[in-house]
Amino acid sequence: MASRSIFQVHVFLILALATTAFSKALSPYYYEKVCPKALPTIKRIVEAAVSKERRMGASLLRLHNHDCFVQGCDASVLLDATSTIDSEKNAFSNINSARGFEVIDKIKKKVDKICGRPVVSCADILAVAARDSVVALGGPTWKVPLGRRDSNTANRTLANSDIPSPFMDLPALIDNFKKHGLGERDLVALSGGHTLGFAHCRNFRERIYSGTNINSDFAKKRRKTCPRKGGDTKLAPIDPTPARFDNSYFSNLLKEKGLFVSDQALFSNGSTDGLVKTYSYNPKAFSTDFVKSMIKMGNIKVLTGKRGQIRKNCRKVNSYY
Ligand code: HEM
Ligand SMILES: *[C@@H]1O[C@H](CO)[C@@H](O)[C@H](O)[C@H]1NC(C)=O
Ligand SMILES: *[C@@H]1O[C@H](CO)[C@@H](O)[C@H](O)[C@H]1NC(C)=O
Repeated sequence: MASRSIFQVHVFLILALATTAFSKALSPYYYEKVCPKALPTIKRIVEAAVSKERRMGASLLRLHNHDCFVQGCDASVLLDATSTIDSEKNAFSNINSARGFEVIDKIKKKVDKICGRPVVSCADILAVAARDSVVALGGPTWKVPLGRRDSNTANRTLANSDIPSPFMDLPALIDNFKKHGLGERDLVALSGGHTLGFAHCRNFRERIYSGTNINSDFAKKRRKTCPRKGGDTKLAPIDPTPARFDNSYFSNLLKEKGLFVSDQALFSNGSTDGLVKTYSYNPKAFSTDFVKSMIKMGNIKVLTGKRGQIRKNCRKVNSYY
């Protein structure tokens, strides 16, 4: 009898710990009861934004990536600079580059109105908008695990060190992803996000003028709109079909037509060559792995339970929390 009640006390303690100390698992049904209209609302606004400008889908996908790689998926990327917030928007990879913030603002306003109060986090909005963007551009769909909460901090220094650079070689990329709890398969699959969107000349100039593992026709073509000097802000599509989520990013790598050093690094006689080949002839394998890795990325250091806050304005920390 005594041992049984001690057992019950233990069970109680473990359950109590599990619900407070440890982070709760995310669930795709998190908003089903509290605001069933939340997800359809996000989808509608993403679809409208993408049909107005196809590139917006790419930009929204990238925002979720840059959120998750800095302090975890906590919407820290959305915070504007103040005396206490060192905005990640000013980090090297984001300044004059990250975009889509107005679409997130629009979603947040509408969702809070439809839900009657701020119950949907900005971090969840980023994750759902990324999925809806992929779908809007012809990619796979998936159920997004939800229940993230928003940070009350941002960290530009961390953004500078933790977001991978387009000049990285394969070992550096593998190491960067490993620090985020992601493996080589995640690296290759998620890099497939570069099937969408555009890049600035400054990020690929070095490669098209002095790269060694680059197709010469491709280099020549890219040099036409990316001069050796100046023209830093000229844009080029990252793969041949920047508004279609397909696997041409990978078939392009086989031809040494990757735009960034970091893209071609995935197919340059290294350990990831095999996977790039597989994705290039098997779009289904790419889709399946991309979805798995997106869910994994979306789980990086999430704030749940009572940690963090639900922001009222994605750009600002609530004054009380
Ligand atoms: C593997 C390491 C990665 C590196 C080094 C990298 C680097 C870059 C760079 C330099 C740009 C162009 C920025 C500009 O010129 O303004 C870019 C764009 C983009 N990245 Fe990545 N990225 C990486 C991983 C990812 C991941 C994991 C995703 C999403 C799953 C992603 C999605 C995108 C998208 C969609 C764009 C185009 C954005 C637009 O057109 O607005 N990237 N990336
Ligand atoms: C930002 O991250 C750096 C590096 O991890 C850390 O030393 C610093 O304390 C962080 N700053 C803030 C405001 O969280
Ligand atoms: C990879 O190996 C092939 C065959 O040996 C060679 O032709 C090619 O130049 C190599 N690529 C790089 C980037 O080293």
